[in-house]
Amino acid sequence: MASFANPFAGNIPRKISKEELIQAIRLDIAGELEAIFVYDAHVQATEDPLAKKVLADIRDEEKAHIGELMTLLRHLDPDEAERFAEGEAEVKEMLEQLNIISPSGKADSTVGSLIGK
Ligand SMILES: [Fe+2]
Repeated sequence: MASFANPFAGNIPRKISKEELIQAIRLDIAGELEAIFVYDAHVQATEDPLAKKVLADIRDEEKAHIGELMTLLRHLDPDEAERFAEGEAEVKEMLEQLNIISPSGKADSTVGSLIGK
């Protein structure tokens, strides 16, 4: 969450190294996740339709920011990207074992696939 008590909290008097940039991106991702959590809590907490719509829209934009930051992180740290891919592959394997998705990686049942049935 934002720390407004110190207006210089995020400033450092030099350019950062690549390793520090990678750490900063990880922190940025954590900030986006926290923002999603907070916006979603506010969406769930209000019955005002406009507030719900605006907050949900902002929440979803934060999700897109995570996609941008994850892509940047994968670019900056290919080793970490490889580990992300390992984790994704493990879960996809579990999904296949549970017959939740087909080996092609596509969901077995989508709205479109159910129309013809
Ligand atoms: Fe964001």
